[in-house]
Amino acid sequence: MQIFQSDLLCIGAGLAGERVAVAAAEAGFSTICLTLVPPRRSHSSAAQGGMQAALGNSIMGEGDCPDIHFTDTVKGSDWGCDQEVARLFAENAPIAMREMAFYGCPWSRVVPGEHTYYKGGKPFKAVEKEENWGLIHSRAFGGTAKWRTCYTADGTGHAVLFTLDNRLVQLGVDMHDRVQAEALIHDGDRCMGCIARDLRTGELRAYFARATLIATGGYGRIYKATTNAIICDGGGQICALETGMVPLGNMEAIQFHPTGTVPTDILVTEGCRGDGGTLLDVNLYRFMPDYEPEKAELASRDVVSRRMTEHMRKGLGVKSPYGDHLWLDIRHLGEKHITTNLREVYDICNNFLGVNPIHQLIPVRPTQHYSMGGVRTNKDGAAYGLKGLYAAGEAACWDMHGFNRLGGNSLAETVVAGRIVGAKVVEYLQGDDNTVFSTAAMRDAAARVQERIDILVSGRNGRENCYAVRDAMQEVMMEHVGIFRNGKDLQAGVDKLQALLERSQHIGLQGRNMGFSPELSMALRVPGMIKLALCSAYGALMRTESRGAHAREDYPERNDRDWLNRTLATWSEGATLPTLSYEDASPYFELPPGDRGYGGGKIIPGDIPADKIRPFGKAEQQEAK
Ligand code: FUM
Repeated sequence: MQIFQSDLLCIGAGLAGERVAVAAAEAGFSTICLTLVPPRRSHSSAAQGGMQAALGNSIMGEGDCPDIHFTDTVKGSDWGCDQEVARLFAENAPIAMREMAFYGCPWSRVVPGEHTYYKGGKPFKAVEKEENWGLIHSRAFGGTAKWRTCYTADGTGHAVLFTLDNRLVQLGVDMHDRVQAEALIHDGDRCMGCIARDLRTGELRAYFARATLIATGGYGRIYKATTNAIICDGGGQICALETGMVPLGNMEAIQFHPTGTVPTDILVTEGCRGDGGTLLDVNLYRFMPDYEPEKAELASRDVVSRRMTEHMRKGLGVKSPYGDHLWLDIRHLGEKHITTNLREVYDICNNFLGVNPIHQLIPVRPTQHYSMGGVRTNKDGAAYGLKGLYAAGEAACWDMHGFNRLGGNSLAETVVAGRIVGAKVVEYLQGDDNTVFSTAAMRDAAARVQERIDILVSGRNGRENCYAVRDAMQEVMMEHVGIFRNGKDLQAGVDKLQALLERSQHIGLQGRNMGFSPELSMALRVPGMIKLALCSAYGALMRTESRGAHAREDYPERNDRDWLNRTLATWSEGATLPTLSYEDASPYFELPPGDRGYGGGKIIPGDIPADKIRPFGKAEQQEAK
């Protein structure tokens, strides 16, 4: 077995992984990135609409500041987030955006003069100021008080990923692509890297590292209908969970984006609605203002997705061979706007739907999009449970999103958290001169992976088809752990997933290829994916309240008295369910729990101890210190 060694190992080379790698490499530490695909094809490249940061450069963002961004983020999370982290994020986001410009990101910029903008489908005139000429522009996104989402047309993820990847090439970071991490190397105290499979040859490799980062993105592929790429299979979360000691946070917090396209499930950006697009029903009626008079299509995603589903349940969806859907209308934005600021949407609609959005309506419905849950870390990005293990981006539960993430806050999180966690990893590497790795731990981890491969290849435990088991899991998640949830369905979902977990123990390969074998890669993943699905379904069953994207029909109220907390899930060897425990949602509250102002609903108040309330605002916090 080949053995590699570095100071930092980044498992995942999307935006979060690459930003942490840049920090380590700039500080002179050797860094290896592992990635399933060439790094510029990481799922970050699919992010369209933009990154939230309170720059306040454009006229519609005037007066914006981190305090307002922080407030929007906490409300968006339905008070489920860690407010210390949300504050860190809001304060650092403007710096991270300018830093990306320094690295070469071609942001869309403010052009002074009169512009026609749209709000809720209606045009209005606004004048961009001369003194803001050429500064980073921003557009509207849901759940925000200001237009704050910085963008490069509607290819923001693509542009920022190419920018950061160029920086990695400059810094000479080693990129090992088409490599799948299978297990962490650890001695029960410290993480020392991972065992991975070369997807080209099938060979196992050992990666020893003084610090290991999990940045593998989300686990959207536990659902059948998702905007996530096939690589978003939760590989990093599975590696953490399989240690039995690193908890995953809030796995039941799953976001459905209002505008997945039908039937392909490819995203069309919230930027469409931010730029003035509207949602229409079967009668071409704009229904969102009836439900949400103030924010309409730009309420937060959990709210819009619920309202769309409610509306379709009333029989007002458009029937299609692929199920009911609604329409997204951007025709009024005009050809110039659509082919410049929404050009990816234009291409996606034309190439994948056969729809020209300049003249035609886009078929959409809520689709799984984002995992708020992930590897639980502290505010430095250090995972609970193992020293030397970090996580960042969607793979992590850092946790600035709580139970609902605002659009544009995740792409921003990748580079903001990447910057913050990167600095902390550097501190850790500077302080830790322990370069002695345990070959026993490495051999143990490799032997376990090898044994799993041998069983799959030999068919010793059976010849269940891994794709059939995966598909069944995805159907269960669609049917039982969706936008609206209830105890009966969730329990049935948990039961079915437990049966699938048992079935997954009998998976055997249909093919015999030990080298390049997508089937083997999938067969190795499926049992772990079912465990993630169980963490989500069981966590959702146990959480008897509604908060953000977790909407229980049998417990419709947000219950701050009993549930102002975060779920932690661990998995013991041989178990058939995760072990759940809970910790406080936030170490303190700058913004005590209240009403979001949109998406209504009953709140059962809880008592926040006086010593957990902090003065609002960064300046005041500093004075208080
Ligand atoms: O709608 C979008 O462009 C997606 C953005 C996001 O998930 O933040």
